[in-house]
Amino acid sequence: MLLRLTGLALLCCSALWFETALAHTSYTVTDDNKLDPQTYRGYLLYRNWCARCHGTFAQGLAGPNLAKSLAQSSKDEFMQVLISGKTGRSGVMPAWRDNQQVMNGREQLYNYLRARADNAIGPVQPQQGPK
Ligand code: HEC
Repeated sequence: MLLRLTGLALLCCSALWFETALAHTSYTVTDDNKLDPQTYRGYLLYRNWCARCHGTFAQGLAGPNLAKSLAQSSKDEFMQVLISGKTGRSGVMPAWRDNQQVMNGREQLYNYLRARADNAIGPVQPQQGPK
């Protein structure tokens, strides 16, 4: 009986831990570079609007390496900078609040960059894969 209870408690804890650990994992990567359709859409937005300053696959150019940056900051911080912009040591990050495409796709955009930050996909050309 005691053993069964302990087992149950363990199960609960590991489930909780698992959920916390995966809380920000809302992308799927298969075969190293195939993104689920939503995350692939995020990549396309990234390519259209962000790559010229942050590098083709977010590895950094005039603007900082976003794979590194996201590994060290929260989703809230990301959204804040995206919406309102930021001026710092490396220059001016424009505000995107008036860009409907970027605003509507900000979750997908974040997921692509999150996948880069988690190293689920490297600095390689993504393809659209299964859901
Ligand atoms: C005109 C160039 C330019 C474009 C386009 C641009 N950024 Fe930036 N971004 C910058 C610069 C420069 C910084 C660094 C500002 C600073 O010195 O703090 C920055 C900073 C950021 C940061 C904060 C990172 C950090 O480490 O401080 C995020 C997040 C970010 N950009 C996301 C994006 C996203 C997403 C897009 C596309 C929708 C985008 N940026 C488009 C230039 C750009």
